[in-house]
Amino acid sequence: MCASISGFSKLSKSKKIDWIVETYFSNAEDAKRILKQYWNTNEKIQQLHDEFTENTITNYYLPLGVAPNFLINGKLYTIPMAIEESSVVAAASKAAKFWMDRGGFKAEVISTTKIGQVHFMYYGNPETLKNYFNHIKSQLIEDAKPITKNMEKRGGGILDIELRDKTKDIKGYYQLHASFETLDAMGANFINSCLEQFAKTFKTEALNFNAFSAEEKIIQIVMSILSNYVPECLVRAEVSCKIEDLSEDKNISAEEFATKFVQAVKIAEVEPYRAVTHNKGIMNGIDAVVLATGNDFRAVEACVHAYASRKGTYSSLSHAKIEDGIFTFWMEIPLALGTVGGLTGLHPLVKLSLELLHHPTAKELMQIVAVAGLAQNFAALRSLTTTGIQQGHMKMHLMNILNLFDATDIEKEILTEYFKVNTVTHSAVVEAIENLRIK
Ligand code: HMG
Repeated sequence: MCASISGFSKLSKSKKIDWIVETYFSNAEDAKRILKQYWNTNEKIQQLHDEFTENTITNYYLPLGVAPNFLINGKLYTIPMAIEESSVVAAASKAAKFWMDRGGFKAEVISTTKIGQVHFMYYGNPETLKNYFNHIKSQLIEDAKPITKNMEKRGGGILDIELRDKTKDIKGYYQLHASFETLDAMGANFINSCLEQFAKTFKTEALNFNAFSAEEKIIQIVMSILSNYVPECLVRAEVSCKIEDLSEDKNISAEEFATKFVQAVKIAEVEPYRAVTHNKGIMNGIDAVVLATGNDFRAVEACVHAYASRKGTYSSLSHAKIEDGIFTFWMEIPLALGTVGGLTGLHPLVKLSLELLHHPTAKELMQIVAVAGLAQNFAALRSLTTTGIQQGHMKMHLMNILNLFDATDIEKEILTEYFKVNTVTHSAVVEAIENLRIK
């Protein structure tokens, strides 16, 4: 049944649930029971979760896994990963262990600049606008001081503001294009507050700028908002070793593996159909750590894919080469992350994840996240170019299929043993459960 409701947001949680289950579910009591099963028994924790967003009716769990043995710039980490997909944590762990014995991952933050824009319309003389901008620029920064003073004390703040003429794209369209350093904060609120102040000063002071005609004084602010595209908030992660150190697999030589691996990366560099899947594998690692550490994975996703298209074609984020007998695999990726503010001080599991990572700075977290992405990509490409992906993936997926059939603990034990030597496919698992149950 389709139904609409007015005033839903003002109802209590229990009234919201009543309306939902009675309107949409054939068995209202059953639906209510499932929703309540996921509530936390600790009322304070439940209230915290209720208040993270709006119209909350229950919690949606994701497993929090950990991938140990990540050696990054000589320091060992166990990386928390919040993800529902089987084989991702296993793959990250396997890649971490592999590279731990080969010098580990090197990671370096290249830049940390973030961007925000005030988009506005002005139809007068462009030269007069330029003069007005030059005249008002220092006041824009000065008027934002109450917002920026604490950030400045810590060494961050507004880096610059430029006037950008976009009238070739849209008649009358200009921007105040501002750059920021937000240190350990992701900085969205800080940047947006600064931008809204810039817009206010810019619009108001235009009325007092004598060189403007009466019409030119009317600047229309369209919007003020940070950009989640941060190509100058970049981190690089890399692994390298002698080719002969690469192989652990007796079915393929180290040289053949290295060559196939580099070919696989080159294919993702030139072929968008492959690049999307290749980068999805990287995002398996990145999103999982971004989520576990309370960061905004939607912003990271949107940015990373724009970055992957920056040369006009969607392409691989990672690269690989063989030079003088050395295999090198690396990635440069834009990541705007925070280790203070937002959920980082609120969500108990985010706090725990950050403690597990030795309370990283935002720069350290950028390095850890990039490494998780590179590790994930390495594991996937290693499987793809050797055994094929299904072998490992289905091995990890076995438990999901068993759960789908409500397998008991004893059934799980027997079938896990059985599938150590038999190939896991959905139908093979179904057949094995059925045979076991007949017996
Ligand atoms: P394996 O060699 O069969 O595993 O690999 P193993 O049982 O011999 O164990 C070796 C190590 O792997 C373990 O060491 C762990 O580090 C890890 P240990 O802990 O024993 O000292 N490991 C595990 N960690 C946690 N829980 C487990 C577990 N099992 C192994 N249960 C594995 C099995 C799945 C790791 C391997 O086949 C692999 O890396 N496969 C790649 C899987 C993958 O990439 N999955 C992502 C999802 S697929 C996808 O979405 C992306 C894709 O399309 C991207 C692309 O196309 O590029 C593939």
